[in-house]
Amino acid sequence: MKEIIDALSQNAILSKSELKLLLLDSDPKTSEYLRALACKKRQEIYGKDIYIRGLIEFTNYCKNNCYYCGIRASNDKASRYRLTKAEILDCCKNGYSLGFRTFVLQGGEDLYYTDDIICDIVSSIKNLYPDCAITLSIGEKSKESYKAYKLAGADRFLLRHETANSEHYSKLHPSNLTLSHRKECLYSLKELGYQVGCGFMVGSPFQTIDNIIEDLLFIKEFSPEMVGIGPFLPHKDTPFKDEHAGSVALTLKLISIIRLLLPNVLLPATTALGTASENGRESGILAGCNVIMPNLSPLLVREKYLLYDGKISTGDEASESVSHLKKSMASIGYEIVTSKGDYKK
Ligand code: 5AD
Repeated sequence: MKEIIDALSQNAILSKSELKLLLLDSDPKTSEYLRALACKKRQEIYGKDIYIRGLIEFTNYCKNNCYYCGIRASNDKASRYRLTKAEILDCCKNGYSLGFRTFVLQGGEDLYYTDDIICDIVSSIKNLYPDCAITLSIGEKSKESYKAYKLAGADRFLLRHETANSEHYSKLHPSNLTLSHRKECLYSLKELGYQVGCGFMVGSPFQTIDNIIEDLLFIKEFSPEMVGIGPFLPHKDTPFKDEHAGSVALTLKLISIIRLLLPNVLLPATTALGTASENGRESGILAGCNVIMPNLSPLLVREKYLLYDGKISTGDEASESVSHLKKSMASIGYEIVTSKGDYKK
């Protein structure tokens, strides 16, 4: 196993069968070795710096019906909200004073926010905070729309591919949503010059080891600036309510593998990872992550943006969670920095 991991860390392309051996190996020493090499790689590029991104969940309306997601259109138990431009700018003001230099506007696919509205919000944030990066995470749009957002000042875009296997994709989504369109969006975003993030859920229903291998090979080929992965967690009002949660150990192992596959990648220790395990985010950092995305949304709407059950920090002020994170990162030898935290080439 050591040879396979050494080859991976020396940037060799692993075969499917080698990746399979690596994923199926349950020896804790394997994960430990992966972790050590992943941290070494991250250290060479990003040192001990941890970048923070201020997450603004600005709408939980969504026109889609992904089977796993708590804010799916058909969930009539979800209490819906939309933030106004003024409310979003308030979140940024608060975030800026707390040291955030990236704002992530995330929402369901909500047609209330036309391209003009999105562009107005993006350009207003950019005018007020020219030293900040703006990340959008608002789903599948046309290339023209993506272009308009870019011209308005958006720098980055998060769009998880969810699974790189189209059959598996069709088991997670209704038939109007396809992997080919998802990928088309990702390639358009890249062409337009965004820093792009893809990613997937670990342990989503029907996922096989071979699917995960396809995810890793797609990630390597697409070579995004950011990768978001977290365990699948069931939500009580979705078709997947009785499915098992994904494994934290496998998520951590995959984080280390992704760090070795793409050494420069910006890799968040996700909220889902922090929800699935008490020290999930800290373990994520120790496995190779270098980004954390604390929530800047107003407290009153926090508990409404529930993609899965049990989501953490729905009750903390952003200031509390940042000071808590600073301490917990310092306790494991890392430092939260005030920086845009761009991808290092
Ligand atoms: N469990 C874990 N992650 C989820 N997401 C959506 N629903 C869930 C869930 N039940 C993830 C998807 C999406 C991202 C915003 O959140 O991967 O792309």
